[in-house]
This record gives sequence, C-alpha cells and structure tokens, in this order.
Amino acid sequence: MKALVLAGGRGTRLRPITHTAAKQLVPVANKPVLFYGLEALRDAGIREVGIVVSDPREMLQPDSRTGERTTVMVNSQAEIRHAVGDGSAFGLQVTYIEQEAPLGLAHAVRISEAFMGGEPFVMYLGDNLIKDGVTPFVREFEAERPDAQILLAHVKTPWEFGVAELEGDRVVRLEEKPQQPRSDLALVGVYLFSACVFEAVKAIRPSRRGEYEITDAIQHLIDSGRRVRSHVIKGWWKDTGKVEDMLEGNRMMLMGLQTDIRGEVDAATEIEGNVVIGPGSVIERSRLRGPLVIGAGASIRDSYVGPFTSLADGVVLSRCEIEHSIVLERSRIEDIPGRIESSLMGKDVVVCGKETRPRAHRLMLGDSSRLELS
Ligand code: G1P
Repeated sequence: MKALVLAGGRGTRLRPITHTAAKQLVPVANKPVLFYGLEALRDAGIREVGIVVSDPREMLQPDSRTGERTTVMVNSQAEIRHAVGDGSAFGLQVTYIEQEAPLGLAHAVRISEAFMGGEPFVMYLGDNLIKDGVTPFVREFEAERPDAQILLAHVKTPWEFGVAELEGDRVVRLEEKPQQPRSDLALVGVYLFSACVFEAVKAIRPSRRGEYEITDAIQHLIDSGRRVRSHVIKGWWKDTGKVEDMLEGNRMMLMGLQTDIRGEVDAATEIEGNVVIGPGSVIERSRLRGPLVIGAGASIRDSYVGPFTSLADGVVLSRCEIEHSIVLERSRIEDIPGRIESSLMGKDVVVCGKETRPRAHRLMLGDSSRLELS
C-alpha cells in the first residue's frame, strides 16, 4: 500500500502566516503539522509516499539585507521539499508530484495515477491532525478490501466540510460543504482507495467552487455500485485550517508531554507541570507552567509562560506573560503589560512595549494581520 499526501493549497484562512509559509508546515507543539501525518503513515507500515505540491506564488517581500520590497517567488513547494527531503528522516521514500494549479483534491489524485501503479493507497490531507494515527483504518481496509473507505467524525459546523449521509453504516450520499447539511458527519481528511478511484476522478466535473472534489468522486463510486465503507472515528481529529484549530491542535499535542529540560534554568525560575526546554535555551527569573514547549536557543527572562504554549527556536521573551499560544522562530516579545493569550505569531515578529511620549500604538502589520488590543 502507498500513500498520497496533499500539501498544496493556498491556506487563505491562516493569513498572514501563509503569505510566506506553507500551511502544512505551521508547527503545533513545535513540530510541523505535516510531520504528524508522515509519521502516522510510517507507523501504519507505509513506505512509499507521493507528496502533491503546488502553488508557487509571486509576492512583494522585503529583501533580507536592504529591507527594500521586491517581487520574489514565495514557493511553499520549495519549503516542503526542503523540510521533508527524500523522506528518509521519517523512514519513508518520498516522491514529489507537482500540481500545476489548485484544481481540487480529485485532480491531485488524477495526476498521481502513474505513481500509484495500480496499488491501493491512503490519501492524507497534509493539514489534518489525527491524534491516534491511521494504523487501525489501514488494517481495516486491508482486511475488508472495499473499493474505498472514508473516515467520518461528528462535528458542530458540518457546512465547513464534506458531509456524509448514512443508512446504517452504508454511505448513501456525500455532499461538499452543503448549505443545509443532512447530518453532522464530516469527512475527515484521510481516505483509503483502491485503483478504481481513478475512473471516478476522471468522470466528474468541477464543482461550484471550480474544483474537482474528491467528495464528488466518492459519490461517483457509490453511484456506480462500488463498495464504499465508512468508519466514524472516536478519537480527536482536526483540520488545522484556522488559528483556533491550530491552537486546539497545539493543546492536544502538548497534553501528553513529558518533561525534558536541556537548556539552563536559573534558581529564581519556578517550573510547574510538564515542560520541554531545548538545548542552548536560557530561562531566568521566570515562571513556567506546563504543559509547554520551548525550542533551542530561546531566551526567557522575567516572564510567565503558561499552559499550552509552544515557543520555537530562538524566541526571546522578556518582561511579558503569554499562554495558550504558538510563537514561531526568532520572534521577540518584550515589555508587554497585559497577558498575551490565544495568539499565533509568525517568524521574526517583534512585539514590544515602549515607555515613550506621546503614548501611542505603533504598528507594522503585514496583509491580513489581526491585532486585538484591550
Ligand atoms: C477538504 C475536503 C472536505 C473534508 C476536509 C477535511 O476540505 O474537501 O470534504 O471534509 O478537507 O479536512 P478543505 O479543507 O480542502 O476545504
């Protein structure tokens, strides 16, 4: 069995972070979302993985030396290739499959036909997080050998997903992002297919949003009398398309954390709960209340870091309080009066308080940034 991991898409709901980074590489608990998926596939015994990448974009960006804004190609594809490489770090053999335009999930399947070589495969959407992995679903598929197997989960906002209608455990109808959902059962972004899915992805037409929907391809399988099994998952699952989902994913992944302190912590710092601190980090006169993770080479001084916080490598905090947040590489937060919470900050962000007159907020925010002051 092979796997197809989808790592294209625009990530519009995570802007501005996704102006400069692939959404699948935003970390939760200091590990890119995509890596959890790759590890889950490896743990299920899969070795050959095709990663569908797309979406090179032309954007205005400041030059790192001169600060001048110039047009550059922000290529999330290059970033994914750089982060995952040939897959050997994960125990996988990775092949990249280029999707020239974001034409939908079924289109991604269509261009992967040669790579699959007639074998059944797991399709995994690279922004999905499934806490308990995919091993039981892969085993079930291998034992039952249906034409396709979908995973479903009860959700509160079914209109944001593909929605399934069941009769018993038989799938009778699937609809992509319906205005009036017929159930609260959302399609989880992990699908198992036999090679007959290729006929279906070729037979369908683009949807209202102009994409070839995998939901329509599975409906086509059902309509042609193919056997489509479903499995309602009990464990925790999240499509990490939005900030709140990233923070929930972060919470979920930090929950089982074991303490591992490699950096230097001074005697005036108090630590409660489970805390991971990477090598080269220095913590002084601070209070850390886990679960939380701090990467390598970070510097935390006179600060409070509360539960469910992930600080990436090189983050600098001084005289501030933060909890329930994700802060990416090298960002600096200094002299902030209130507590920062439920926040997602990108790389090299500076948030600082200054005692200058006149007292005023001075902002330099990228497109689609969001700042809530109170
Ligand atoms: C995609 C699928 C949808 C599924 C969801 C799960 O939606 O089209 O059917 O429920 O993934 O993450 P997207 O997140 O691409 O809008």
